[in-house]
Amino acid sequence: MRGGKSILCVFVATLFVLTAAFAVIAADKGPEKITIKAALFAKPTKAPVELTHKKHNEDYKVACADCHHVYKDGKNVWKEGDAVQKCEACHTEPTIEGEKKLPPDQQKLNLKLAYHNNCVACHQKLKKEKPDTKAPVTCTGCHPAQK
Ligand code: HEC
Ligand code: HEC
Ligand code: HEC
Ligand code: HEC
Repeated sequence: MRGGKSILCVFVATLFVLTAAFAVIAADKGPEKITIKAALFAKPTKAPVELTHKKHNEDYKVACADCHHVYKDGKNVWKEGDAVQKCEACHTEPTIEGEKKLPPDQQKLNLKLAYHNNCVACHQKLKKEKPDTKAPVTCTGCHPAQK
């Protein structure tokens, strides 16, 4: 009886380890490429932006948490494996050039600023360190000229 029980214990423990390992392997790393075209911009003035999603992480060594976050008490508590919400789920304000600007304390809600303060800010920092970087900092580098 006792022997049977401990074999069962080992079996259950092994199952737990296997399930945990599988969950890590199966964690959603997101798509290889993304065409960023937020629905919040009802009348976009610029072309959609291509993001080499997988390359940014694997080749350019940008951590998931450099782009994905969930803030709790001012700290980013998002970690790989957690669900990913669209940026516009939280950055819900579409104000763009020419329109009235948000008061400073609400500008973090602005979607265009969220993208630019993430994508452009990193690229500009790179350019300072390495002037020949391929990370685009000009408008058309990310928003191809529209025909
Ligand atoms: C350079 C910035 C960046 C990096 C690095 C990055 N992501 Fe993303 N990811 C994005 C953007 C932007 C989106 C699209 C968000 C939107 O549509 O609002 C996205 C979307 C996703 C989605 C949702 C895809 C869908 O179909 O809705 C998942 C899942 C995801 N990322 C996981 C990850 C994981 C895991 C990592 C690290 C291995 C990672 N991302 C690294 C920027 C990034
Ligand atoms: C779950 C909600 C949520 C999601 C999803 C989210 N953000 Fe944020 N983000 C926030 C909050 C809240 C802050 C403000 C944190 C603070 O007070 O400093 C913030 C701050 C930022 C900042 C720094 C503030 C600034 O404007 O300089 C950037 C950049 C940013 N987010 C970009 C993004 C991008 C890009 C995505 C999608 C890949 C995204 N966020 C998805 C909630 C979110
Ligand atoms: C934390 C840094 C960082 C962030 C954030 C980041 N990038 Fe980049 N990006 C890079 C690096 C590094 C390269 C490659 C530079 C090189 O090869 O010289 C790059 C290259 C690129 C390129 C040109 C090469 C290619 O793979 O297409 C595009 C376009 C680009 N990024 C778009 C974006 C967009 C759009 C976002 C925001 C959703 C973003 N990046 C966010 C670091 C970043
Ligand atoms: C590193 C990449 C990058 C660069 C450089 C960049 N943007 Fe963006 N921008 C984005 C992303 C990503 C979005 C979100 C696109 C979407 O959802 O359609 C965006 C959104 C916008 C929007 C709001 C949506 C729209 O189409 O009306 C405007 C306006 C805009 N950008 C203008 C500019 C201008 C002007 C410049 C040059 C001064 C510029 N951007 C440079 C990445 C970039």
